[in-house]
Amino acid sequence: MVATHAPDTIRMIPDSPRETPMPDPTSLATKRPAAPASSWGERVTIRPPASVLARLTRGVWRQASRNPRCPATPRLDGRTALVTGGGRGIGVETTRGLIARGAEVISASRKPHDLSLPARHLPLDLADLGAVARSVDSLASLLDGRRLDLLVANAGLWPTRFARSAQGHEIAFATNALGHHALIRGLQARDLLASGARVVIVTGDIYVMARECTPDFAYRTALGGQLAYCRSKLANLWQMRELAARHPELCVVAVHPGVVASELGGASRGVGGTVKRALLLSTEAGAQTPLFCATQPGIRSGAYYHNALGRVELASDDPAADSSRAAAFWDLLEDLVTSQLATGTD
Ligand SMILES: NC(=O)c1ccc[n+]([C@@H]2O[C@H](COP(=O)([O-])OP(=O)(O)OC[C@H]3O[C@@H](n4cnc5c(N)ncnc54)[C@H](OP(=O)(O)O)[C@@H]3O)[C@@H](O)[C@H]2O)c1
Repeated sequence: MVATHAPDTIRMIPDSPRETPMPDPTSLATKRPAAPASSWGERVTIRPPASVLARLTRGVWRQASRNPRCPATPRLDGRTALVTGGGRGIGVETTRGLIARGAEVISASRKPHDLSLPARHLPLDLADLGAVARSVDSLASLLDGRRLDLLVANAGLWPTRFARSAQGHEIAFATNALGHHALIRGLQARDLLASGARVVIVTGDIYVMARECTPDFAYRTALGGQLAYCRSKLANLWQMRELAARHPELCVVAVHPGVVASELGGASRGVGGTVKRALLLSTEAGAQTPLFCATQPGIRSGAYYHNALGRVELASDDPAADSSRAAAFWDLLEDLVTSQLATGTD
């Protein structure tokens, strides 16, 4: 079935047997209660990046009613998962959701998480390549011969002012992109990822505002920090694309969780916080798309899932669809990680 609309709107294209069921093509435009999971994994084509504003608006419009609710099954008993940034925000709700389904979860972040969370905590500072390598060592001890069935690369930083990582790289690049690359490559080098493991990389659809991501990006204002964040989220899509292509033994996806009232970019208190919580998704709702991609059958490696749009097919001129830029970015990350390992400087 094909339902083609005007060029600037979403075009539904046929489903394949490996995907979740095809929804009613009108569903994206219809006001309805929170989308049942079975109607959410639809394939869509997004208009090219010339319409960044339209795309971001379309993603947020009535997002609460289009956000999926991840089914409670299948159970994950006996499965082991690592969630970066699993101690607060979307990450803590993702951790809770995985535990509720029976998984053993290790939550990794700089600060210890809430002790009421029945997950083990792994100290991890993604903004320091030396610390990431030490965390991989600690994880190997924690796992004690087992391997991870699932990695949710969720941790993220939206800088409000310019800062550098331990190795001197711009902080959003270092935390959101390079640190996760070092972690994943470290897990692979130590054979800590099971064959067939899922890797869910949490990006943000705001990446469409960026065209580039480099370690030497400099800025003076909070607006520059926003752009640094967008660049790092574009990087996350390039990482997903390359990891999926180079490692077919893994199932690798990128996820936009929705626009969520978390502490990203700083905690909002008082009236600002109240307004934010009223307008945006709760962190529990924001965890549903990562959980869906982490747990459900029919998830396609190399795909990008958006909380309100389902599986997104990127237009060929979307910055995230640029395979040569993605490959070059992968090489850059490899060089930076390798040179850190060679010098051993923290
Ligand atoms: N909120 C949104 O509207 C939104 C929209 C699109 C995408 N996302 C993405 O969703 C993910 C989760 O964000 P959130 O909204 O839940 O934000 P959050 O509440 O600020 O949580 C961020 C998490 O990242 C961890 N983290 C930050 N820097 C780290 C570092 N250097 N090393 C290790 N962990 C670090 C934090 O833990 P510690 O501080 O303890 O280290 C925290 O657990 C991010 O990737 C974000 O880009 C969010």
